[in-house]
Order: sequence, then structure tokens, then C-alpha cells
Amino acid sequence: MKPTLRLVILVSGRGSNFRAISDAINRGELDAEIVAVFSDKKLAPALDIARERNIPAIAINPKDYADRLAFDRVFFAEIAKFDPDLIVCAGYMRIMSGEVVREFSDRMINIHPSLLPKFKGLHTHRLAIEAGEKEHGASVHIVTEDLDGGPVLMQARVPVLPDDTEDTLAERVLQVEHHLLVTCLNEWQKGHFNFDGHKLTYRDSLLKSPLDLSEFE
Ligand code: GRF
Repeated sequence: MKPTLRLVILVSGRGSNFRAISDAINRGELDAEIVAVFSDKKLAPALDIARERNIPAIAINPKDYADRLAFDRVFFAEIAKFDPDLIVCAGYMRIMSGEVVREFSDRMINIHPSLLPKFKGLHTHRLAIEAGEKEHGASVHIVTEDLDGGPVLMQARVPVLPDDTEDTLAERVLQVEHHLLVTCLNEWQKGHFNFDGHKLTYRDSLLKSPLDLSEFE
């Protein structure tokens, strides 16, 4: 049996993806432990969720550091003290310096609200509607120096409906994000993915790249 996955979650805001992971663990659906939640925003609501659940919640202010690299070195040195197997960026909105990304790339993933490689960066829902997409969704990918461009582990799709606004589409995507992220963490815990810093491999021959979760209950 594979060991319980030690997770550190990075957040900047609301924290619904973090909560979904924590709920799945509490229901016994994911063999993982959230050993800490880290934020670049002291007032992120996600930190309150962590405190309510007695999970260490740590905020470090980037403005207290001279530049991006100086902040990242301290931020990631603190994260490393928790000895995570995997760092999960779940609404962590800060661009990270190449140095820390290179150091942690074999164990850092991000959830992004689009069907990558479409719509990297911000405002993905608006861009999908403007582009006339019939389908949109979310992707979980390895964090590399290529912003939102690392290898994709899994994706989930939703339809774009004719009367969708940015908000209605965002809400539909968010619902599948939670399932997607938990499913992906389960696969990671079982050792089905391997990323050596350069190449992503799927150890289970049944798994295709990227996995596509089209339907949720
Ligand atoms: C999600 O849409 C995630 O894909 C994106 O930021 C949002 C975070 O939402 N990276 P939450 O904080 O998990 O509710």
C-alpha cells in the first residue's frame, strides 16, 4: 500500500478547492493529509477554513521582501519544513520564480480553469465565451517555468450554454474542478503519475494522457 500523501496547499483567496480536498480526506475518499496551507494573502478566506479545521495556516506577505525571488526563497523554505510529498496550487495567484519552480517541479501541481493549452492566464471563462467555444473546463497540470504550460495530468469538460455569462460558466467549471482535483490527487497517491522534472509518465497502462473526466455525478 502506498503511504498517505502529505499535501501542502497554496491559496490566495476563497479556498473552495482546498475545502473539497479536505472534505474528501475527512470522508475517507482520499488517503492524504493536509499538513499546511500557505498563502501570499493574509486575509485569504481559505486560511480561515484551514484554522477552523486545525490545519496550520501560514501567510507571508510578498511586500516584506525585496523582490519575487527573495519572497519565494523564504516562502518555499517554510513550505519545505513540512516535508510535503506534493504541493497543490489551488487558486494561488502569484507567479513563482524559476528557481523555486525548478526545485519543486517534480512535486508541484496547479488547477487551472480552462482546457489547456487553451486560455492560459486570467479571465479564462470570459475568453472561452468570446471565442465561441462550445466546451470549456479545467485542467490539473504540473507546475513548470512555462506559466500554465506544464504537462497536463487530467482535464474535465463542461458545455458552454448559449446564455452563459462569465459567472454562470465559472460556477459550472468550479463544480467539476473539485471532483477533478480530488480524483487527480487519488491517482497521484496511488503512484499512477511520475514526473521526473522533465517527463511525465503514467505508470498504469490503462491511463491515457491526459485523463478526461467528462461526467460527474
Ligand atoms: C479556481 O477556479 C482555480 O482553478 C483557479 O483559481 C480558482 C480558485 O478557486 N486557479 P478557490 O479559491 O479554490 O475557490
